Order: sequence, then structure tokens, then C-alpha cells
Amino acid sequence: MNQRGLEKLLAEMTLEDKAAQMLQLVGSYFVGAEEDGEITGPMESLGISEDAVKQVGSELGLSGAAKLIAVQQHHMANDKLAIPLLFMADIIHGYKTIFPIPLAIGCAWDVELAEQSAAIAAKESAVSGLHVTFAPMVDLIRDPRWGRVMESTGEDPYLNSLYATAFVRGFQGDDLTNDLNRVAACVKHFAAYGAGEGGREYNTVDLSEWQLREYYLPAYKAALDAGVELVMTSFNTVHGVPATGNKKLMRDLLRDEWGFEGVLISDWAAIMELIPHGIAEDEKEAALKAILAGVDIEMMTSCYVKFLPELVRSGEVDEALVDEAVMRILQLKNKLGLFENPLRGANPELEQEIVYCEEHRQVARQLASKSLVLLKNDNVLPLSTSQHIALIGPFANSKDILGSWSWRGAEGDIHTLEQVLKEKLSTANVKVAACEAVHEVTETELAQAIEAAKYADVIVLALGESSEMSGEGGSRSDIRLPQAQLELVQALRKLNKAMVTLLFNGRPLDLHGVIEESSAVLECWFPGSEGATAISDVLYGDMNPSGRLSMSFPYALGQVPVYYNHFQTGRPIKASEPDNRYTSKYLDIPNEPLFPFGFGLSYTTFSYGEVTISSDQLTKESSIEVKVTVTNTGSYAGEEVVQLYIRDISGEVVRPMKELKGFKKLELTVGESQEVTFTITEKQLRYHHSDLSFSSDTGQFALFVGSNSRDVAEKRFRLV
Ligand code: NOJ
Repeated sequence: MNQRGLEKLLAEMTLEDKAAQMLQLVGSYFVGAEEDGEITGPMESLGISEDAVKQVGSELGLSGAAKLIAVQQHHMANDKLAIPLLFMADIIHGYKTIFPIPLAIGCAWDVELAEQSAAIAAKESAVSGLHVTFAPMVDLIRDPRWGRVMESTGEDPYLNSLYATAFVRGFQGDDLTNDLNRVAACVKHFAAYGAGEGGREYNTVDLSEWQLREYYLPAYKAALDAGVELVMTSFNTVHGVPATGNKKLMRDLLRDEWGFEGVLISDWAAIMELIPHGIAEDEKEAALKAILAGVDIEMMTSCYVKFLPELVRSGEVDEALVDEAVMRILQLKNKLGLFENPLRGANPELEQEIVYCEEHRQVARQLASKSLVLLKNDNVLPLSTSQHIALIGPFANSKDILGSWSWRGAEGDIHTLEQVLKEKLSTANVKVAACEAVHEVTETELAQAIEAAKYADVIVLALGESSEMSGEGGSRSDIRLPQAQLELVQALRKLNKAMVTLLFNGRPLDLHGVIEESSAVLECWFPGSEGATAISDVLYGDMNPSGRLSMSFPYALGQVPVYYNHFQTGRPIKASEPDNRYTSKYLDIPNEPLFPFGFGLSYTTFSYGEVTISSDQLTKESSIEVKVTVTNTGSYAGEEVVQLYIRDISGEVVRPMKELKGFKKLELTVGESQEVTFTITEKQLRYHHSDLSFSSDTGQFALFVGSNSRDVAEKRFRLV
């Protein structure tokens, strides 16, 4: 349809039709209560008419080609204007082929593979009838207590922005209208949902505008620059105003300053929640504030559908605002080709063929193995298949390895570690003592664990959080492993055997009680459909671990937030006076995290040659080349992530100790050397000043090159 056609359609719509077009409901309104699709928020009685349901603009949570074809056909036959429904769902890290959780993908430092994972998720979704995914989630996070850290790629604005771009490109491709293998992406949660006070879910966010722009906004902006079609509002306040009713954020910044022309959708019930937040007295005022802020679609509450027509008729809302919102929704439907082809990519036969196919699972396996982070290795890994192992713990034979936001991932198809390892090793070489629960190790389980361990050369201890312990509503005040598991570690440690601990979790953990006690620790996250195979690949050296943390692991919870790009303060700790009380430090713990951003070990070793720079002067027009030669000095082929950080030594506002500005992933065979070149230009040195202008300052800069944010070599240059 062309724009004239859309305008004609809009002109035919009554105010009630328009308000219904702006409503999004879950599947039970379309297929009956027995089949809800996913419920990811409170279900309140909406008190809406059947007529409104017939005219509704979009649905969330259902999937499956046959089902969505039936719903669309029924809708088209009943909607008096025959406007096709939009089908949306949370396809966060895979549809049925589940990739590692986004935090793990962040640790792969592999944006091409991330893009490929999103393209596969899009293909499986599109063929199953979906049009829009509520992803990517690009909220920057510094607090591991928050359960949704699992859904973000981490703590760094630069890395998060690269991933935001990659995910949007993977989901949407270049031509949404004609490429039926793609779906529209929805970046979320705008804005700064990751900065909730105390790491508590749905909690207040209060950041300076400077901090918001400098750290939290870049990844959303990157998604917009990549052409993302939708933006989702966040639940939290921004400068005292909940995002969903925040005109300054949504109209002034998102629309006017950034030029976003796509659809702005509320998060689940977020318009109605303006009432408990305390900026609306009732649903009518909530609808008023949300439309004034520019929210186009209301997810799962009925403030718009009940009150928008009345608000327009009373003159409180200009109908142009409603028209503009409806037009954006119609334009998205049109871009997806739904007016010509309301069923779009939905195809039950192809669905059978494509979804969870071998090719997709291989990519999941590859990405999973690249996202595992080796945190410690006292010469025990890789294992050899001739060793006897005792596989112990709650994740020894668990199918709970997909992580939150993976409803369609079929647990039935998942291979557990026990299955994979038994297939790989001769049965005589593996004894298993699995525990049923994450919070309890029964006496029998403990006895079996000790028995199995006694006969083994190596204990492989699979520990972690259940997937329910992170994700939405998954905040924790204690980020250690459950006590029962820590006790299991202590009991096994007494046997003085080599112990390899595998960790399954959705957040950086406080690893006291695990790290010292283990001979090796492999952070596995929730690795997805092919996770167990990927872990076995790494355990036995078929893959050399190459993951690097995209979020710091705190030394202790009391440090949180602890992140690499912090300020130095006016009283930094001095190496020469470590006990000086009047410096910025704790009396009882170090300032540094246990494992810094960018950290991860390999089975091989890499040595860095001297870092050279082509000049120590940079102008606005010139560039500096930074070179370093990296050599694989160990005895395994492996991948190294060479990282470049910069510090502005003296800024108009204080600049962080280090900021990631680039990285290169090298594949090096044994003994091989490669030279890496980074190019630095003035553009990379820009930042937000106190008046929020974005520019660089002349003066001295430090650049750092190394294998993580801590272990680096330094050079200096001047911007003149
Ligand atoms: C609430 C979550 O915050 C959001 O991320 C998700 O997309 C919606 N529910 C829909 O499920």
C-alpha cells in the first residue's frame, strides 16, 4: 500500500478504531484462555468490549505458524476495516534454537556471530508467524543483583553499542518488506532500566543527564542508527518521571533530537503503572500523559482504549497526536507487507524444516563455546578422555541450561552434560552424582557425590543458579551460589582432588567459596540448546576457551557497583602508601573486582610485544596507528581478544580511568605471531561536557593495549 492508501484508511477510522489499533493484547484474547502464549506481567481484568478486541492492532506472546495463520484469518474476517494484526513476542536469544543468554554472547566479543544468531532467531520466528521481536535489550548494567543482567551484553557502552547494531541488523536485515526471513526489532528498555537503585527490579532510576548520555544512551542510539523499527519504554523513572509518561525523554530526545520515526510501545502495563508511580490519578490521566509523551502502543492495559476517544472529544488531546501514533503503526504493518500478505512468512511446512534445524544448532554450539569464560585453570584443563571423572552437582544432569526468556526452547530436545559426557567418554570413565535442586543437597546426594569423587581423577562440579534466579523479577540481594552448593564444594574439597567447577548462572556472582577451592573454573552462563556439547568441546580441548567478561565479577557484593570505566577520584589509593586511610578505598576488601572487564583465560598463552604508536601527536585531521605483535607462546591454537582502551588525562569533566575503544580477535596457531593495528582519530576522544555538548579536548591522553582492562601496556599522546 502507498502512503495515500494508508491515509485513506486512517480517514475511515473512528476514534474508537484508532484507540483499539493502539492496543496490544496477549494471545488468550484471540485463542481462548487455555492457550495464553507467554504471560510476562500482571494480568488484570481489562474491562474492554468485544468490539474493541475485534479492532485490536497487535498481539503478543503467541507463536506457531498454524496458530497465527488461524488467528490472522479470523481477525481479518472480523475486523471491519480488515487491518492485519501485528504478532510480537520476546525472542531474546533464539526462538527454538536457543543461543547463550545475551550476557554470555557479550562475552564472546564476536559481533558477526551475534548478528548471525539474531538472523537465525528471526528466520525461525518469521516462519512461525511472528512479525516483531521485543529485542534487543541493550540496557547498560553495573549491578549484578538485578536479574536482567542476563539479558544485556554488559557494562560497556561501546561493546553494548556494537552488539545493539549487530542484533538489529540480524533481526531486520536490509529489506523487511521483501525478506520474509526477518522480523522487525524493538530496542528496549528506553531508558536506563538497568540502573535501578539497589539492583532491585522495577526500581527508581536517578541519573544525571550527563551520565545518561555518556554511558546509558549510546546503545539505544546505536540501535536507532541501525534502523530499529520499534522502541519500548522502560518501567523506571528518568529524572523523576516514569519513562512511559516522560515527554522530555520520548518526544524531545527520542523523536525530536534523534529523529526516531518508528513505533514506540509501552512495556507491559507501563501506562497504567503511571498511577502507582504517582504521576497519574487514574487511567484517564495515565492515558493523557502517555499520549502526550508519544507512546503509540499500550501493552496489556486499557487506558488508551477506554479513555483516548473521550480525551480527544473533550479537547484535552489533539486528535493529531492519535493520528500520528496510528499512522506509525499502519506504516510498520505496511513495511512488513501485511496489507498485501497478512500471513507474511508464516508457513507450517517450512516451519517444520527450518526451526531447530541442524544448521542452526551448529551456530548455537559455536556461539556457546565462544561465550564460555575460563576464570581459573591450575593446569587441570583441558581434560583427557582417559581420565576418570566424577560429574557432580545440580547441573550435572539438568536441562535448565537455556536461561530465562527461552520459552520456546524445547527442554525435551536438550542434551544434558551427563548425556553428552557419557557419549564422549567410555561409561567406565564417568561416574555421575547429580543433585536434584539448586538450594538443597540431600544427605544421600552428598554421600553419592563423595563416593563418585573418591574413584575419580578429576571432579567436574556443575553448580549454579536455576534460570528462575535471574531474568525479569529475578533480583537477588546475595549473589553467591546457594549455601547448599557452597557446602558441597567444601565437602568435596576435603578429598584433595583436582576439581573443575562449571558455573551456570545469569549474572556475575560473588565467587568466594568457589574460586579458591577449585582447580579450574569455567563460567558457562546459560549456554543454550547446544550448551552441554559446547562445554564438553571446551573441557576436552576440542575448542580452546576464548570468552572475555563483558561485566566485572565483584570481589564482594559490598563493592557493587564495580565497573572498569570508573573515575579515579581525587584521592586514589597510592601503591607507595597502601595503608593511607585518607584514600578512596575499603578497609576490608580491595577496590578491584575479582575478575575485571575483558578478562578470560585460554589453554594457551599469548605474549604481547612492545606497543608502538605512529606519532605522539594527534590533530583533528590526522590519525595515530597503534601496533602490537601478539604471539601464541603456549601449546594450543587459540583466540586472543586484543583490547584498546583510552584515558583522557585531563578533561573538562572527569574522564574514566579507561574506556574501551576497540578490540581485535586473533586466531593464532602454536608459535604464530600477528601484528594488530588500531587507528585512533579525534572522533574517538569525544565525550559529553558539562554543558552536554559532545566534543574532544586538546591535551594529553593515555592509551592502553592488553588482554583485559587490567593487564595493559600504556603509551601517551597529545591531541593538539
Ligand atoms: C515485560 C518486559 O519488561 C519486556 O522486556 C517484555 O518485552 C514484555 N514484558 C513483554 O513480554
